[in-house]
Amino acid sequence: MDKKVTVVGAGNVGATAAQRLAEKELCDVVLIDIIEGVPQGKALDLAEAAPIEKHDARLVGSNGYEASEGSDIVIITAGIPRKPGMSRDDLISTNAGIVKNVTEAVARFSPDAVLIIVSNPLDAMCHVAFETSGFPKNRVMGMAGVLDSARFRAFIAMELNVSVENTHAFVLGGHGDTMVPLPRYSTVAGIPITELLPRDRIDALVERTANGGAEIVSLLKTGSAYYAPASAAVEMAESILKDKKKILPCAAYLEGEYDIHGLFIGVPVKLGARGIEEVIQIRLTDAEQAALNKSADAVRELVDVLKRL
Ligand code: NAI
Ligand code: 2OP
Repeated sequence: MDKKVTVVGAGNVGATAAQRLAEKELCDVVLIDIIEGVPQGKALDLAEAAPIEKHDARLVGSNGYEASEGSDIVIITAGIPRKPGMSRDDLISTNAGIVKNVTEAVARFSPDAVLIIVSNPLDAMCHVAFETSGFPKNRVMGMAGVLDSARFRAFIAMELNVSVENTHAFVLGGHGDTMVPLPRYSTVAGIPITELLPRDRIDALVERTANGGAEIVSLLKTGSAYYAPASAAVEMAESILKDKKKILPCAAYLEGEYDIHGLFIGVPVKLGARGIEEVIQIRLTDAEQAALNKSADAVRELVDVLKRL
């Protein structure tokens, strides 16, 4: 393949993302983890599935970063996931150290890469990667809004018994309890759900979306979601690798857009070959803007915690 993506963290999200990247034949994949044998074993296992899955993506597993040299994209999933009773924010000190070390290494070997951060707490980890890499803001972003929107879309489709393909949804804000699902901009075949569902049902779907991560954690008990998160990260990677210029909600570094300054938070962006090519500014009602501001305050609190670590 003429494109190369490195996935750091060969755990649940990372290995599933590697599988989806290879099976969609988007790129060669380098899988990196600190645990000896795990990235090598998973990459080999995926390579052995290739004749059946019918793709020619090359997969390499490694504990070092040499093999990642010259990657077009690096997806960072390294870290610890949440367990029942833990919030995403409880992961901050452990994952900040991991994301910092990983970013130093990937930036050294792939100075022109686009970084897609997945590790939690997501928006705060984007700050760690942005500051550590020194990359321009268009090449550092976080995956959360695509996942949260996909959850919202799945719940809308279940509620109305329609194809998920007819659904569209936007969830903005930080990847936490304060995330901001936007029913006015969420549609089925172009029709806003505000015209299809009563207020109490919309509120219930919004609430389920905001608790979507915790719902999976409470079922799995030993870790957090990974199939949908991997799909979400790969949708972002595909838009960049193919220069598709999809508009997707991603954590982006804002410098005045939505009246938010110096903070990573989820907003709609155009994703193309240069990474974030534009922050799309949609008109928000006063209530929506207030919810986004509240979410930004929650992210800012975490970024302040980072400064004290
Ligand atoms: P996991 O535990 O299955 O995998 C994490 C992997 O990272 C492990 O294999 C571990 O050995 C590896 N790792 C730890 N330190 C490392 C280092 N210094 N260098 C390289 N690898 C290292 O966890 P899972 O489920 O894959 O989740 C990964 C992260 O992604 C967690 O922080 C989780 O909360 C987050 N997450 C974020 C989502 C989002 O929407 N942004 C969605 C799902 C997960
Ligand atoms: C999720 O939303 C844990 O952030 C992860 O599933």
